[in-house]
Amino acid sequence: MRMVDLIEKKRNGGSHTKEEIDFIINGYTDDSIPDYQISAWAMAVFFQDMTHEERAFLTEAMVNSGDVIDLSAIDGVKVDKHSTGGVGDTTTLVLAPLVASIGVPVAKMSGRGLGHTGGTIDKLEAIPGFSVEISNDQFIDLVNKNKAAVIGQTQNLTPADKKLYGLRDVTATVNSIPLIASSIMSKKIASGADGIVLDVKTGAGAFMKELSDSKELAEAMVKIGNNLGRKTSAVISDMSQPLGFMVGNALEVKEAIDTLKGQGPDDLTDLCLTLGSHMAVLAKKADTLDGAREMLQEAIASGKALEQFKVFIESQNGDPSVVDNPDKLPQAEFKVDVLSEEDGYVAGIVADQIGTAAMLLGAGRATKTSEIDLAVGIELRKKIGDPVKKGEPLVTVYSNSEDIEASKQKVLSSYKISSTELESPPLVYDVIT
Ligand code: URA
Ligand code: CA
Repeated sequence: MRMVDLIEKKRNGGSHTKEEIDFIINGYTDDSIPDYQISAWAMAVFFQDMTHEERAFLTEAMVNSGDVIDLSAIDGVKVDKHSTGGVGDTTTLVLAPLVASIGVPVAKMSGRGLGHTGGTIDKLEAIPGFSVEISNDQFIDLVNKNKAAVIGQTQNLTPADKKLYGLRDVTATVNSIPLIASSIMSKKIASGADGIVLDVKTGAGAFMKELSDSKELAEAMVKIGNNLGRKTSAVISDMSQPLGFMVGNALEVKEAIDTLKGQGPDDLTDLCLTLGSHMAVLAKKADTLDGAREMLQEAIASGKALEQFKVFIESQNGDPSVVDNPDKLPQAEFKVDVLSEEDGYVAGIVADQIGTAAMLLGAGRATKTSEIDLAVGIELRKKIGDPVKKGEPLVTVYSNSEDIEASKQKVLSSYKISSTELESPPLVYDVIT
């Protein structure tokens, strides 16, 4: 087989066989096919698309390019959740203890944040003592014993995807449905999931800004999962504003605790119940979504979910007393309100700009090696549909530096204020199974 022939085939709109896709991905992984040929091929895929079958082949080839985590020693159906990139997306912190409390095993491999998006590990490390440095065996034991554990990404997962994603980033080929869908699904499958619940974001702060594109991406991923024998569902949810009120590591832990107590923001609570219901159904802990939602609501009302969070924290060396005393979480020295410069109604809050505003305070990493400040972040005081008067706080900035000017400017540019009243957007636009 010659790579040049495969580029030509894709350029002319042809479909690859499994052998051809394996040739391309294996050759790229072992450096026998150079970057420039893969760049040309990725651009051909960008314009000519791929069939559902080709997308499944591509995903499988990327899974097989590195380690595949074996979770078979964990009892039950392992369901993973993936969000396509939210800001202040506290759902994982809530969902892990919540679904674990009704018996769904949560074996979560998580990453650290980069740029304007936060990472689950950073958030958990805001809890004094909490550690994700556990061995694979400890990880499996903890999930079997307590139903939930989180580990850092230490293994060599999907090296082909890492390389290809890096190349796409500099060849204007990131924004291609077959390439995005296979990239995301390969990582989930390599992490050992039997079932996958996808939270595909849509709106100004999302990767996919148009609902039709978000739907297409969701359908592509669900098809890949199902074609590769992993039950997959996707929820398309709103990102025309950040979820909940808090963006920042310790602040989001506090928000997760509130949510597990039944006192969290409505949108965060509702999305966690929706995603959690899909997880419970895929894990066969409930027959219907309504039945699952009732079980989850009951786990919150009875305190079972909150208790599960304490067990989870303690089992990874964290201090569980933060649940009853959130003041023990890192606290910022300064709290400063950013005031609205006009009267009107909030029409949109561009989530990635709020994420950048939090990063500028130190909540996120500008580069992979930056140190982060777990205490700082942003509390949204107004959300879409809220009336606002000039001089009223839009957000409260939690900072350890007196100079918050750069962050403040980001906040002001992220808030869209309209003179006419508008309704808040729906939280969930569609569900694809
Ligand atoms: N996120 C991924 O993991 N891969 C993509 O291709 C795009 C977003
Ligand atoms: Ca939040």
